[in-house]
Amino acid sequence: MWSILIADNYPQSCQDYLEKCGFHVVYHPGIDRDELLKISSGFDVIIARISTPIDRDIVYNSNQLKVVASPTAGTNHIDLDACHSRGIKVFSAQGANAQSVAELLFALLFQVNRNIAEAITHVKSYGWNKYEFLGHELFGKTIGICGLGQIGRQIVTLGKAFGMQILTSDPYIKENNEIVNISLHDLFKRSDIVTLHVPLTTETEGFIGRELLESLPKNAIVANLSRGEIINENALNELLAGTRSDLRYLADVVCNEPRPGEKLVAPAYVHYPNTYITPHIGAWTVEAQERAGMIIAKKIHSFYQQTTVV
Ligand SMILES: NC(=O)c1ccc[n+]([C@@H]2O[C@H](COP(=O)([O-])OP(=O)(O)OC[C@H]3O[C@@H](n4cnc5c(N)ncnc54)[C@H](O)[C@@H]3O)[C@@H](O)[C@H]2O)c1
Repeated sequence: MWSILIADNYPQSCQDYLEKCGFHVVYHPGIDRDELLKISSGFDVIIARISTPIDRDIVYNSNQLKVVASPTAGTNHIDLDACHSRGIKVFSAQGANAQSVAELLFALLFQVNRNIAEAITHVKSYGWNKYEFLGHELFGKTIGICGLGQIGRQIVTLGKAFGMQILTSDPYIKENNEIVNISLHDLFKRSDIVTLHVPLTTETEGFIGRELLESLPKNAIVANLSRGEIINENALNELLAGTRSDLRYLADVVCNEPRPGEKLVAPAYVHYPNTYITPHIGAWTVEAQERAGMIIAKKIHSFYQQTTVV
C-alpha cells in the first residue's frame, strides 16, 4: 500500500479517510524544504498546499513518487513540467473553494463600502456616531470579473443577487446570453469594481499593469483574490500612493507570500489607508477545507485502485 506524506495543514476527517483506505499516512504540516527533500524519497504521494512549493528537486528526489496532490484550486506551487516529464500525476481541488472565495470578496466589498470594522471598534470604545460611517450600496454598481472560472461564476451569482451589473473578461470562454464578455481594457474602463480570478501563468504574471489601473474610473475598487504576482506590484504601489489614491485595493494575496506564521515582507501599499488585505484566507473555511481535502483524497484512492489492479 502507498505511503502518503501530508506536508501541510489537512483536515482530520480526510486523513482518517485515507487511513481507512489502507494508506500509510504521515502528517507533517509545516515541514521545511530541507527536511522535505530529505524524507520525501520514501513516499508515493505528497500532499502540499501553496506554502510548500514542490519544486524540481523534490520531484526528482524520489523514484517512488507517483502523485503530487494539492487541496487548492491553483497549482502554481508545483513544478508541473517536472511532474509531467517524470509521469507523476498532479491532483488539485478546483472549484471546491469557489463559494468561500466569492463570499470573502463580498465580505471585503461590504467592509470597504460600509466601514464595518471601524464602526464596530467605535462602539467597543463606547462611541455612537453614525455620521462618521456614511457608506455605499453595492446595488446598481458594475462589477467586472476577470476570469470566469469556478470562482468568477460564483461571483456572477452573488453579484446578481445584490442587484449588480455584471461584466466579464475571459478570452477562453464562449459567450452566451447571460454573459457580457469584453476585453480587459474595456472591463477596466467600465467597472466600478474589477475583481481578478485568473490562474497565475506565464500569460497572467504581471498582466495587470499601470495602464490598466490608470484607466479605472474614479473611486473604483480593484480586488485580487487570485495570486499576488498577477498585478505589477510596483505600479500598484506608486499609483495608490500618488496619482490614483482615490482607488481602493482589496486583496487576499501578495507577491512572495511567506509561509503561515512567518513575518510578511511586503511593499508599502499594505499600510495605505486605501488597501484592505487579508492573509490568504479565501479558501480557509471549514466547509471548503473539508470539500477540497476529500476531493483529493478520493482522487488519490481512485488512482491507486486504477494503477494497482492486476
Ligand atoms: N485566495 C484564495 O484563497 C484562492 C482560493 C482559490 C483560488 N485562488 C486563485 O484563484 C484562481 C482562479 O480560481 P478558479 O477556481 O476560478 O479557477 P478556474 O480555472 O476555474 O478559472 C480560471 C479562469 O481564468 C480564465 N483565464 C485564464 N487566463 C485568462 C486571461 N489571461 N484573462 C482572463 N481570463 C483568463 C480561464 O479561462 C478560467 O475561466 C486560482 O488559479 C487561484 O490562483 C485563490
